[in-house]
Amino acid sequence: MLVSQNSIRQFFLKSIISVLIGKDKLRFYSTIDWQKESDRFLKEDPVYPDYYSGKNFHGITGGYLNPIAAITYDVVTAFASPPNETWIRHQLINGIEPKPKKILDLGCGTGSATLMLKQAFGQAVVIGLDLSPYMLIVAEKKAQQAGLNIHWQQGLAEATGFEDAAFDLVTVSMLLHETPPDISQLIVLESFRLLKPGGQLIILDGNQFRLRYAQWLIEFFKEPYSKAYAAHSLEDWLKAAAFEKARTKYVGWIHQLTWGIKPIIK
Ligand SMILES: C[S@@+](CC[C@H](N)C(=O)[O-])C[C@H]1O[C@@H](n2cnc3c(N)ncnc32)[C@H](O)[C@@H]1O
Repeated sequence: MLVSQNSIRQFFLKSIISVLIGKDKLRFYSTIDWQKESDRFLKEDPVYPDYYSGKNFHGITGGYLNPIAAITYDVVTAFASPPNETWIRHQLINGIEPKPKKILDLGCGTGSATLMLKQAFGQAVVIGLDLSPYMLIVAEKKAQQAGLNIHWQQGLAEATGFEDAAFDLVTVSMLLHETPPDISQLIVLESFRLLKPGGQLIILDGNQFRLRYAQWLIEFFKEPYSKAYAAHSLEDWLKAAAFEKARTKYVGWIHQLTWGIKPIIK
């Protein structure tokens, strides 16, 4: 029998990921009716852009439009965020001032950052928006388990439909390496539109400088747009969108934080 190296690799990866998720969670996920639950998030027949529905992110067929992506996301992300995912995510939250009253987390995924934002700013209205209803199902379960009241919404980060100047903080974690550069720039522009004057955009994502020299990492995690992402500069995109005080700090081994403020026009 001919067994390809790829299928051996996939068998080992699947076994390791199953062990890391744990029996209890796997049993719990198997009780979810993914189709029925996802319908709760879909207002009308959603149209998914090709750059999203046409790619197998992380080697998963159908990418984020497959419940497997939602089930495996947290364990894979913990592994892909050295030296420590929680510490890295805390760097996004540390130093947010003044206390935001309305927060939007774009491309919130399974809500790891969204939950931390609500824990840090309990009085704030927090909205997590993602295109994948399956990621939102897991995010919602995590928030329920933590007793946190967060609004979860399905939609496009580059065309959210929220009104102008509705938020004083917009966060974007680990999204922009997974969208083509032209879409990422639209997401930065949309964030600008959504922020009140003086409001802040904070982006946590891969370290663009390091990733330029770590092609193997991009290939290992099977990221379709990371090479293009690494060739650009988030800071330049923020400046081009008219954000003030755009700056970047490298965090952990392979991440960066980029901030910008929407100017107050006097
Ligand atoms: C790598 S995950 C990041 C999830 C989360 N923010 C985190 O920090 O772990 C990227 C998420 O962005 C979502 N996504 C990708 N393109 C999107 C878009 N155009 N609009 C909204 N969500 C999008 C995916 O469905 C996925 O859940």
